[in-house]
Amino acid sequence: MSAKEWKIYNPTGQQRVIVTKSLPGTRWLDLLTAADCRVEVCTSPEILSVAEIQAAIGDHCAGVIGQLTEDWSETLFGALQRAGGKAYSNYAVGYNNVNVDVASQHGIPVGNTPGVLTETTAEMAVALTFGAARRLVEADRFMRAGNYHGWLPTLFLGNLLKGGTVGVIGAGRIGAAYARMMVEGFKMNLVYYDLYQNKHLENFIAAYSDFLQAQGETGVTCTRLETAEDVLRSADVVSLHPVLDATTHHLMNKERLGLMKEHAILVNASRGPVIDEAALVEHCRTHPNFRVGLDVFEDEPAMKPGLADLDNVVIVPHIASATSWTREGMATLAASNVAGVLNGYGVWPNPNEILPFLSDNPPKAAPSIVNAKAVGLATYQA
Ligand code: DGY
Repeated sequence: MSAKEWKIYNPTGQQRVIVTKSLPGTRWLDLLTAADCRVEVCTSPEILSVAEIQAAIGDHCAGVIGQLTEDWSETLFGALQRAGGKAYSNYAVGYNNVNVDVASQHGIPVGNTPGVLTETTAEMAVALTFGAARRLVEADRFMRAGNYHGWLPTLFLGNLLKGGTVGVIGAGRIGAAYARMMVEGFKMNLVYYDLYQNKHLENFIAAYSDFLQAQGETGVTCTRLETAEDVLRSADVVSLHPVLDATTHHLMNKERLGLMKEHAILVNASRGPVIDEAALVEHCRTHPNFRVGLDVFEDEPAMKPGLADLDNVVIVPHIASATSWTREGMATLAASNVAGVLNGYGVWPNPNEILPFLSDNPPKAAPSIVNAKAVGLATYQA
């Protein structure tokens, strides 16, 4: 294990906070400095092991901002509690890498960063959809290889999306934003599967359809289907947006892939293990007209053997939330979670309304603590 480099900010701060990766922007650092924190940031790009993070926590540490690539469970929360730790924030909206029950048992609040990734991540899912539908990466490679010798009627035929059916599995914040982009932008009909009805999305699409018809255009529909399988059978494009847990692990397996249309497109910008990646490789090999766009992988950063050789798969390295605005916003929220708890602030009641924390006059609250109740944190009162 090579030694990692750490940089210290505000060395005289009274509360020691560990940040396991360099974060973009400076506001997050200002927030921690204003909360009297000495901030120690790991500037090495390699992913830290549990042992390295434990060593960094040492015997006194007030809080940590950690990454989705780290396994936050008994070893680390135990170490953080023994070091006097009061707060942990994931630098991510998803927190499947965090054992929240264990954190609660150690009395440690767990923060996440909702609300600033929604549109950014949905836009990447749209980009992957188009990249796959219109074979952008294949065509780009073809050009660069000097293979373009003149326009041909059959060169790189892809899929027209307009008027087709888009399917969404998991119609929460990001899934719904993606659905709206596809419906509004490309007049696709929506089918979705979610344990909960998304009334707001349904009403929006109904009103949008009325608007289209009032302009003399064909309307669009939004239908919540009974099962994920129903969505897979009926959609031309399926984008996966579930939370990763035991019920969604390998949601897309050999059998469910087999339900999809021959020319369908599958997009995943949620979490890699939602797809059985070995089964996907096999499916893509045997179904050359099936196309895929992936931002996430089952064993990140590795890919299953054969995936990288497939022309019908577009792959990007877990960058769906990678815009400066979003990544700086995530840093602000993660720092506000840690600083808010260390300052003794209450917890913001609505993680869906998070943008005030990016304003010049942010609320004196911790924006998003997912186990606030379990660890007995009070709710923010204006
Ligand atoms: C998250 O925040 O969960 C994303 O996967 C990061 O891009």
